[in-house]
Amino acid sequence: MSKLVAIIGATGLQGGSVLKTLYASGKYRIRAITRNPDSDSAKALAEKYPGIELAQADLDDLVSLQRAFEDADIVFGMTDWNADIIARNRKGDLDAEYKQGKNIVDAAINASVKTLVLSVLDSLSKQSKGKYSDVTLFETKYKAGEYLLSNSDKIDGFTICLGAYMDNFIRAARISSEDSHTIEFWFPVEPTLRVPLIDTANDTGPVVEYILDHPEECRGKVQDVSCGYYEIQDMINAFTEATGKPARYVKIPYDSIPLPEVVQMYKCIEEFGSFCNRTEFIERNKKMGHKFTTPVEYWKNRGWTGPTQ
Ligand SMILES: NC(=O)c1ccc[n+]([C@@H]2O[C@H](COP(=O)([O-])OP(=O)(O)OC[C@H]3O[C@@H](n4cnc5c(N)ncnc54)[C@H](OP(=O)(O)O)[C@@H]3O)[C@@H](O)[C@H]2O)c1
Repeated sequence: MSKLVAIIGATGLQGGSVLKTLYASGKYRIRAITRNPDSDSAKALAEKYPGIELAQADLDDLVSLQRAFEDADIVFGMTDWNADIIARNRKGDLDAEYKQGKNIVDAAINASVKTLVLSVLDSLSKQSKGKYSDVTLFETKYKAGEYLLSNSDKIDGFTICLGAYMDNFIRAARISSEDSHTIEFWFPVEPTLRVPLIDTANDTGPVVEYILDHPEECRGKVQDVSCGYYEIQDMINAFTEATGKPARYVKIPYDSIPLPEVVQMYKCIEEFGSFCNRTEFIERNKKMGHKFTTPVEYWKNRGWTGPTQ
């Protein structure tokens, strides 16, 4: 019988990409995990991918995770730095997201899962030698990854690190108030900043599949998920190339950003770079037999030509 993969975040971007890729490979049985199997997005998954199982679990509930991992050979795990986690952080529970990541690891070990691929991020505190130490969305994921790897006697653990989502540019877009048709992209960093970009919904799964196919090569080395380093301005030029619409970069002041950890994140990336400046993934991508989405392809495939208001 083929191996059973349980996927956290299957209704979202990262997990959805893992589901899409592993389903298409035909090599795995798939269990999609969601907080609510009756939600429209969960039902849509079951309809789109006939034969997958849906299972209910919440990252805050170890027992529910353990149940959802039962009989699974492999788990893909991710945590979501969402409004609920931010609210808990504000109340002083800075480890709220770490606890969810730890629950994934503990539940997988308790359910005798063989392999866990966990989505993490780098420690910006370590990278900046303590200068930027409050970016909880990075630190908690890093800590969960370290916890997984410290349990290598109990579970075969692998970590992936996602680059900057190309989707972030959609969230940062505004219609210019000057001419009502130019699309402006608002960020607090220099437009020449180089970042590793990723079309998360399409290019996360292939890296996870590569890890499962090449465990010896990937064990012990975080696997970065990106099509390559680009300047922020390149993504904006690509928007115009793909859509024909005028676009410009707008540098906004740091004090217009409400979340202090996001300010620290941008400042750290400006000063110290992304992915701790790793480049090994570029050679790995070439070997993968998967064509990563470029910025122009992203905009063409997305079919999005700007905000409606
Ligand atoms: N934006 C970027 O550039 C960037 C870069 C690197 C990493 N990231 C990280 O990516 C993460 C978000 O991943 P994504 O984009 O794949 O998220 P997404 O598309 O917003 O989806 C979130 C997923 O998480 C699941 N989920 C959330 N809370 C859960 C809980 N308590 N229990 C079980 N499942 C839960 C949701 O499942 P249900 O709703 O079905 O339960 C959903 O499938 C964030 O932590 C962010 O920090 C972002």
